[in-house]
Amino acid sequence: MISYQSAKEEIKQAADIVSVVGQFVQLKKAGKNFVGLCPFHEEKAPSFTVSQDKQMFHCFGCKKGGDIFAFWMAYHSLSFPEALRDLAERYNVQLPEKHFTAEEKKKVDDRETLFKINELAAVYFQKELTHPVRGKPGHDYFKKRSISHSIIEEFHLGYAPKGWDGLKQFLLSRKVSLETALAAGVLKRSEKGHYYDLFRERVMFPIMDLTQKKRVIGFGGRVLDDALPKYVNTPETPLFHKGTCLYGFDASRKAIRETGRAIVVEGYMDCLALRKHGVKEVVATLGTALSETPVRKLKGIGKEAVVVFDADDAGKAAALRTLPIFLNERLSAKAVLLPKGHDPDSFINSSGRDAFSKLLDAAPSLFDFYMDQKLGPGTQNIDQKVSILEEILPVLAKVHNETQRSLYIRRLSEKSEIAESVVLSALGGIKQSSVKDRFKNDIKQQFTSVNANRSIGEIQLLNLLLHYPETVADLRGHHCRLLISDPMIRRIIDVIFDSHGNSKTINFETIQERLDHDEDRVWLREFGFRPAFCSDREVKQAVRDFIAKARKKKIAESFKTAMGDPRAINEILKRKIEAAGPFFGS
Ligand code: GTP
Ligand code: MN
Repeated sequence: MISYQSAKEEIKQAADIVSVVGQFVQLKKAGKNFVGLCPFHEEKAPSFTVSQDKQMFHCFGCKKGGDIFAFWMAYHSLSFPEALRDLAERYNVQLPEKHFTAEEKKKVDDRETLFKINELAAVYFQKELTHPVRGKPGHDYFKKRSISHSIIEEFHLGYAPKGWDGLKQFLLSRKVSLETALAAGVLKRSEKGHYYDLFRERVMFPIMDLTQKKRVIGFGGRVLDDALPKYVNTPETPLFHKGTCLYGFDASRKAIRETGRAIVVEGYMDCLALRKHGVKEVVATLGTALSETPVRKLKGIGKEAVVVFDADDAGKAAALRTLPIFLNERLSAKAVLLPKGHDPDSFINSSGRDAFSKLLDAAPSLFDFYMDQKLGPGTQNIDQKVSILEEILPVLAKVHNETQRSLYIRRLSEKSEIAESVVLSALGGIKQSSVKDRFKNDIKQQFTSVNANRSIGEIQLLNLLLHYPETVADLRGHHCRLLISDPMIRRIIDVIFDSHGNSKTINFETIQERLDHDEDRVWLREFGFRPAFCSDREVKQAVRDFIAKARKKKIAESFKTAMGDPRAINEILKRKIEAAGPFFGS
C-alpha cells in the first residue's frame, strides 16, 4: 500500500513549484531563483522568492513560505489534507485511504460536505432550469436578458423554482442533513426551527473557486421582476467570503493571462453579457467594494485592469474607490465610463462588441479618470480643491515609481490649477512620515532577520552545510557543535548531522519537519535562500578550518574540566600536539 509520505513525494516529483506558483504569480528569473510580487501581502518590490532547486518559496517581506503544499494551502485558503487531495488529483497521484488524523479528517470532511451540498444544489438548480414547466420562468428570463444557451452551460446557470422546499426535498432525497445544508448556506431556518430554501424564484449563478476542480463555493440569485432584494447571495460560510471573491474568475483566468488584461465589472449579468460577445477576460465584483485580495490575484496573472462600472453615480463612486487599492497593490488600471444610463450589459447588447472595444482602447488611466471626476467643471472653488488634495495626496504618496508619481503630480497640478511646488511640498509632508515608517520598518526587519546577533562563524558553518551537503559527512563527528553558541543554530545543525545521509542535495523539507519550533523553520527557510559564502574551490579549505577550530575548542574545553588532574592534562597535551593546531599561537 502506498504511504502518505510517498504520495507527497510523488506529487513533488511531478509538480514543479515554479510552474505551479507561476500560474498564480508572475515570476521573473533572478539569479538562481525566481521572484515576483507576493500574493500574500502588499508590496512594492518583489520579495516573494521561489527556488527551483529547493522546490520551496519564501517571502522575505511577510515570511510566508514552504513547499508546494504550503503555497497551495495559503493561496486557496485550504487545509493541508485538502491541498494534498487537490494536488494529488491534479498530478494523477494516488492517495492512500488513511493518512490523516481524526481531527484533520473531520475538518476536511466538513468542508468537503459543504462543497458537496453546493454541488448538489447547483445540479438541482440546473435541472430545474431545464424543466419545461417549473423552469420556464427562469428560461424565459435568461432569454429576455439575451443569455445564450452556451453561456448557461458554461457558467452552470440554473433556476430556483417557486416554493419553499424544492431544494430541501432534493437534498433530503440525497441523504443530506438539513443542518449541514444550513451550514452550506443554501437553506435557512425559521425561528420555529423550520428549514426552507433560501433561493426561491430566482435565476441562479453558482460562484466557483480557482482550483482545477472549479468547486462551487456559493451562489448569487436574481429575482425575475423588480422585487427586492434584487440579488441574494449565500451568507458567509467556511467556503464563501463575498468580499474576497470575484464572479467568473475561474472562467476568465486563461483569457486574462493571454490578453494581459482583466476587465472588472460590477454585476453577474455584465460579466456574462461581455462573455457572450466574446470578451472573455472579465470578472465581476459581487456588489461589494473591490478588495485587496482579488486585486492581488488579478495582478498575479494580468498586467492591467480596466474598471468598467455603471454610468450612474453609485457606479462612478465605486470606480473611484478602487483607485487606492490599485495604487497600493501596484496594478495599473484604466477606467471606462459608459454613456449615461448604461451598464456593461446594456451597452454591449445594444452597441455591440466593436463599440465596447473602442471604449476599452480609449480608456484613460484610472488616475486621470479620478481627477476628471473630482476636478471637473463645477469644482473650482478653493475649499473643494483643498479637500480633494487632502484626499488624493495620501494615495499619491504611496506611488512608489518616481516617474509615475511626478507625472501624476504634474497632472494634478494642471487639473487643479494648484502650483506644482505647492502640491509637492504638501506631498513632502505626507511622505516624510511614510519614509520614516519605512525606515523604522527596515530597522525592525534587520533585528528580526537572519543574522542579527549571531556570530559569523556559526552562520558560515550552517551556510556551508546547506550549500555543500557533501561536507556534512566530512564535518560530522568533529565536535563542530562546540563552535555554536546560538541555541537555534544548534538545533538546526543537530538535525542536519542527524538526518542527512550522503546525498548531494539537502532535503530542506525533511530538516524542516524535524524542527520543533515554527520560528526555526521560517528562519532556516529564509537563511537557505542566501548565497553560499564561499566558492566551490574554497570548500575543502573551509572544511579544514572548521575542523581545526572545533578541535581547538574541544581541547580548550577539556582543559577546563581537567584542571587539577595531571594525568588528564598530559593526555590533553598529547592530543594537542597531534592536532598541530596553532593552539598556543592564538
Ligand atoms: P441586473 O439588474 O440583473 O442587470 O443586475 P446588475 O448587475 O446590473 O445590478 P446592479 O448594477 O444593480 O448591481 C451590481 C451587482 O451588485 C449585482 O450583480 C449584485 O452582485 C450586486 N447587487 C445588486 N443588488 C443587490 C442586492 O439587492 N443584494 C445583493 N446581495 N447584491 C446586490
Ligand atoms: Mn444590469
